Amino acid sequence: MAAWSAYQTTSTPFGSWKSIWSGFLAAVASCISVLFLWILTLRPSPQHGVISVLRHLYFAGKSYTRGKYYLRKLKTAWKNPRYAQDQFLMRVLKENGDTDYGRKFKLKNIVSAEEFRKRHSLTTYEDYKPYVERVMAGEQCVMTQVMPNAFVQTSGTTGPSKYFPQRDQRYLLTRMMDVLYTNLHELCPRLGLLQKKLFHYVQPVMSRAKNGGSIRSAFALYEDGFMASCYTTPPSGFRIHSYDDANYIHLVFTLLDPNTGALCGSFLGGIYTMMKQLEQCWEDIVYDIEHGTITEKVKFDDADIRSSLEQALGGGHPERAGELRRQFEKGFNGIMKRVWPNLEVLSAVDNAGSWPDLKAKYAEGIPFVNLGYGNSEAMILGVSPWFHEDNHSMVFCTNMAFFEFIRHEDSNESQPKTLLIDELEIGQEYEIVFTQESGLYRYRLGDVIRITGNHFNCPTFEFMYRMGLIMNLRYEKMNQVVLKAGLQSAVGQWNDMRLFEYAVAESTLVPKSSPAFEETEDMPYYVIFLELDQTVNKSGNKETSKTAELASNEITSSIDVELRGLNSIYERLRRSGAISHPRVHILKPGTFEDLKQHVVNTTNTTANQYKVPQRLRTVDTLNFMFDHAV
Ligand SMILES: *[C@@H]1O[C@H](CO)[C@@H](O)[C@H](O)[C@H]1NC(C)=O
Ligand SMILES: *[C@@H]1O[C@H](CO)[C@@H](O)[C@H](O)[C@H]1NC(C)=O
Ligand SMILES: *[C@@H]1O[C@H](CO)[C@@H](O)[C@H](O)[C@H]1NC(C)=O
Ligand SMILES: *[C@@H]1O[C@H](CO)[C@@H](O)[C@H](O)[C@H]1NC(C)=O
Ligand SMILES: *[C@@H]1O[C@H](CO)[C@@H](O)[C@H](O)[C@H]1NC(C)=O
Repeated sequence: MAAWSAYQTTSTPFGSWKSIWSGFLAAVASCISVLFLWILTLRPSPQHGVISVLRHLYFAGKSYTRGKYYLRKLKTAWKNPRYAQDQFLMRVLKENGDTDYGRKFKLKNIVSAEEFRKRHSLTTYEDYKPYVERVMAGEQCVMTQVMPNAFVQTSGTTGPSKYFPQRDQRYLLTRMMDVLYTNLHELCPRLGLLQKKLFHYVQPVMSRAKNGGSIRSAFALYEDGFMASCYTTPPSGFRIHSYDDANYIHLVFTLLDPNTGALCGSFLGGIYTMMKQLEQCWEDIVYDIEHGTITEKVKFDDADIRSSLEQALGGGHPERAGELRRQFEKGFNGIMKRVWPNLEVLSAVDNAGSWPDLKAKYAEGIPFVNLGYGNSEAMILGVSPWFHEDNHSMVFCTNMAFFEFIRHEDSNESQPKTLLIDELEIGQEYEIVFTQESGLYRYRLGDVIRITGNHFNCPTFEFMYRMGLIMNLRYEKMNQVVLKAGLQSAVGQWNDMRLFEYAVAESTLVPKSSPAFEETEDMPYYVIFLELDQTVNKSGNKETSKTAELASNEITSSIDVELRGLNSIYERLRRSGAISHPRVHILKPGTFEDLKQHVVNTTNTTANQYKVPQRLRTVDTLNFMFDHAV
């Protein structure tokens, strides 16, 4: 009404134009102020400029909108998992039907999951190797209609590397990150869209196949321009190949931002290692934040990384540096909440079970969300829509792969009967088989999971172990879950001791040339290596030698007793003398950290994808362990 009367009283065209214009300006101004008020609710960092905040809003908003859409589709798939599975399978068979592989198996004519399981046998990598080689050489239409633009390379610690083609790496990565981040925002409503996240990442060395696709590890999860300005670390910080140096840079920039909202990464162990590194190098970090420099101790392959990082530090932040110094001088217990008061969540894959330690030491008061279940072959197969504290289970991504399940007791057969997603029993263990969209069909992953319940109508599961890590001297099939439980319980009987990490080899791996070799062909045994933590009394050298002395008798017999109690076949084989008692070696503190360096130095394994080799399978790692026993 006011605007209308203003129009009435201004008679000249120029005057009316002016009042419309000022009304328009007022409207724009109020929109902008509403926009800014809304932006404030998303918890931006005060020290970031308007342009940087708007860029962040653009990328984070896009990712969140897409993530919402994918999550909605996933929920629909959970409500009717069998239908979602059939849809996925039929789509993939049609899309990849017109390829050399598809024609050979007449994939296009298949009309049901039933027929698919009859016509196509279960497979392993060997079935695809010749096809993959042709794809990598640049031949068209071999496994997929579109030319794959990436090959995920396994580390090949125990044999030659395997390569898994991916039709569209960037799309898969984007979708995975969108789903995971949106899931975090739904779980933690207080996590502001404009709070920056740490993305813990070390850039693996990549190469190119003849067809132009990149050859990369499964954890090459960062792409240029990807989620730019949503992460604490500037883009050049994602180009660092050295693990320690990358950790240092992530620490500098994440500590610089007191408003950091989430710490994410592929493996939680990586974040744990980074925090331990902080205790060593915090003085350098505080100095660098204060002066806007990067210490010369950090080496870069590329000279321009240093200058762009120093530029991002913008001349130094003495106030923040002073605040950090005060916090570090108080010690590192519960440090995360003290330096990042708005930190809402940690998210990664906890493959080494580091969460309880990390939480107790640094992450008090912050919840953890399991990033999901994935691998080189399929990126992501399960997500966890809960806080880890509430529920350790994950739910199958029923619209991203077609799953089949082999009953645990049938795993030793080469073509056992499989079950579908709606035929599983809670509490049972199954080996996973899956079909994905880049050319693997009925592929046996060798992972064993246990069904724990239902989410909507879709089964939930926990990862149990890899079949490749089962210890099998005779036919006792000692899996890593049982083995670890036995070792923990044996070590726990020992005052103040805790199992930090372990690795086990079958005695058949010990080479004749080794001093540890024993002539016991018909009485094989486990060679067990333990790194222990003294929980109360910090170990000095005297303590360590005492530990070594005790090892040979006390701990050996308690481990033997525990394992016999947990695995009845092992018990029978031990009683009949078909297996000899284990040989236990206590390792020097820090051995597993050194082993990691050693493996990263000497194989194609990158620091990102490294996993502790719980079952030692190479003479090289075995000798490394013998060399580090006390
Ligand atoms: C390591 O990677 C290179 C290049 O991708 C490859 O040629 C070589 O065979 C790999 N080594 C092993 C042991 O897999
Ligand atoms: C698999 O193991 C079961 C016992 O667990 C045995 O009865 C069966 O013969 C084995 N099958 C093969 C192919 O080894
Ligand atoms: C985890 O959630 C699923 C689905 O809601 C449920 O069936 C299962 O019992 C839960 N597990 C625990 C340990 O709470
Ligand atoms: C720590 O070690 C000392 C001597 O080695 C011992 O007397 C003391 O009881 C130990 N502390 C605990 C809590 O076990
Ligand atoms: C790994 O290589 C780095 C240098 O590339 C070297 O400093 C380090 O000592 C090596 N570590 C092991 C355990 O071989």
